[in-house]
Amino acid sequence: MNPFRSVGSLLAAALALVVAIALGVVWIVVVPTLERNLTNAKIDQQARRATAVAKRFPVFSFEHPEAAGPKEIQNWAAENAALVNTRVVVYAVQRRGDSPLLRVRGDSEDLSIDVADDPTATRAARFGRTTSAVATRDGVRYAQVAVPIRKTNAVVLFASPLEDTVASVRQVKRRLLVAGALALGIAVLLGFGAASLFARRIRRLERAADRIAGGRLDDPVVDGGRDEIGQLAEAFERMRTQLARLDHARREFIANASHELRTPLFSLGGFLELIASEDVDEETRREFMSTMQEQIQRLERLATDLLDLSRLDAGQLSLDVEPVDMARVAEELAEEFAAVALSSEHPIEVAAADGAVEALADETRTLRIGRALLDNAIRHTPEGTAIRLSAGRVNGRAVLSVEDAGPGIPPEQARHVFERFHRGDGGHASGSGLGLAIARELAGAMGGRVALQSRAGRTVFALELPSADAPFPRENGGVRTPS
Ligand SMILES: Nc1ncnc2c1ncn2[C@@H]1O[C@H](COP(=O)(O)OP(=O)(O)O)[C@@H](O)[C@H]1O
Ligand SMILES: [Mg+2]
Repeated sequence: MNPFRSVGSLLAAALALVVAIALGVVWIVVVPTLERNLTNAKIDQQARRATAVAKRFPVFSFEHPEAAGPKEIQNWAAENAALVNTRVVVYAVQRRGDSPLLRVRGDSEDLSIDVADDPTATRAARFGRTTSAVATRDGVRYAQVAVPIRKTNAVVLFASPLEDTVASVRQVKRRLLVAGALALGIAVLLGFGAASLFARRIRRLERAADRIAGGRLDDPVVDGGRDEIGQLAEAFERMRTQLARLDHARREFIANASHELRTPLFSLGGFLELIASEDVDEETRREFMSTMQEQIQRLERLATDLLDLSRLDAGQLSLDVEPVDMARVAEELAEEFAAVALSSEHPIEVAAADGAVEALADETRTLRIGRALLDNAIRHTPEGTAIRLSAGRVNGRAVLSVEDAGPGIPPEQARHVFERFHRGDGGHASGSGLGLAIARELAGAMGGRVALQSRAGRTVFALELPSADAPFPRENGGVRTPS
């Protein structure tokens, strides 16, 4: 995987971006404001001092330099500059029409030339009021205040460099940069750290998914987290257990099915060998033939059952649903099994239904279920016991009951009789153990179920189906209900 596309890089980049944006905002908002405030404070301070100093301006010396001596103003400027720790320049203003002409009369720094046309002083002279501004000379910024002296044509300029303000701002900028760089570093580290924690868990899930995809379903998917990844892991685990269950069922089914197929094939093979050998008399040969016939029938039944089950599993069962007369189904079954019942001495009684009982179902499938139940009642009960078929209604559903007087099914076995390939032990068991499994699934596909009640001497299998004359006959249609 491209390392720049990893969750870690993305998270680190996102955090770094957030920090950078925060820093940028602080830079844009805070730095200029700070600079402005510091400068304003400096100018205010300058203005207060300037006003105080200007009050003591020696007007006489200024207006009569010949009487006071030419050095007087220069000295005053120098003394006061020292006092307020700022440069003091004194101008004489000559008015020529609109624009005043300024001439330096005294300068505490003796330079004079650089402040000759100072705009702050010029403005103070033009408008006759105290003016403050920031001026830049030779790349240095100054906080300046110019005060016009009342009743005379002098303007005094106070100028002090803003270097300490600039230094303060520079320091703040430097600290901001350092703090920002630190925060960026921490953000990137945190991003990678947090992401690597998640990435490790995600990779573990990825490995688990690969394992499951590769058919190794034994190792559970574990992740202790309670967050989304934890929930994902739980979903994975549910998927794994379900797949493991299905896989187990599939293997068991295949094993059972092949076993069921092999047994009759073996016996057929054995009989064929015996028949092929010379020393078998005609009567034994005929006996063998009839047994082989039985085995072939058993194989046929098994093939049909397996095909039905696979169709049921694939959900490809197409149902032809119509009103089915349950009493007629009972009679048809009794007729169909009359010969078998006679040979095994099971008298079959069909109880008359009181009124018509119509199910909304697929008739062929209903008969198929009835056959499985009746076949069991004959096959798994001793000779001579009676069987009773009846159609009726229970809880608004149409019911076909098959009742026998056999030994019954013990409760611990009753739980399993509907499972695929489950056969009770005992001499009578000769089927494949699929009859009841198919019956239950077919009934479920038609929105019904097969219920079992059994005690010694009385076993009732009841096929319950949606009734044709119920107010909402197909409310459960097509949905499999657990039976
Ligand atoms: N009427 C019944 N009386 C007693 N046992 C029964 C009856 N019906 C089913 N069983 C038991 O349930 C098992 C499963 O039945 P089924 O699925 O039809 O398989 P099979 O008939 O092929 O053995 C039977 O082997 C038998 O032990
Ligand atoms: Mg059976």
